[in-house]
Amino acid sequence: MSNTTFTMIKPDAFANGHSGAILDKIIKAGFRITALKLTSLSAEKAGAFYAIHKERPFYGELVSFMSSGPLIAAILEKENAVEDFRKLIGATDPAKADAGTIRKLFAENVGRNAIHGSDSNENAQIEGSFFFSALEKL
Ligand code: RTP
Ligand code: MG
Repeated sequence: MSNTTFTMIKPDAFANGHSGAILDKIIKAGFRITALKLTSLSAEKAGAFYAIHKERPFYGELVSFMSSGPLIAAILEKENAVEDFRKLIGATDPAKADAGTIRKLFAENVGRNAIHGSDSNENAQIEGSFFFSALEKL
């Protein structure tokens, strides 16, 4: 059965010109894009999106990075989407990511790590709805 995940091409990857190559990898890996937009987050919105990390030492840096410039948000569909997408993007720290993963290829470091992927079906729904209205989704 097909299910859904949510992704962002983060401000580092967008600014470094990797958006096209990243979307190409996502499509070639068998994901179907069902919503897509170029947008940006205010510090307030970035803080809300990553509220689960509020108490972590890197929260301030994360909020400032995620609100630092344009990003691309998308909803993706595929069988086993959440797990397969986390495999495609690789470990949070690109130094620990497997060869060929999006973070290994395009991330700068553990904070500026090129791409987001939802960590559960439930969060995929919440995060997709954070960025997209019903009218903006296939
Ligand atoms: P994401 O939510 O963005 O897909 O990343 P993730 O699941 O692989 O990692 P998570 O633990 O959810 O952390 C969210 C984001 O916070 C930044 N971070 N910085 N400086 C650090 O040690 C550190 N640790 C995490 C990264 O941008 C990470 O993707
Ligand atoms: Mg996460």
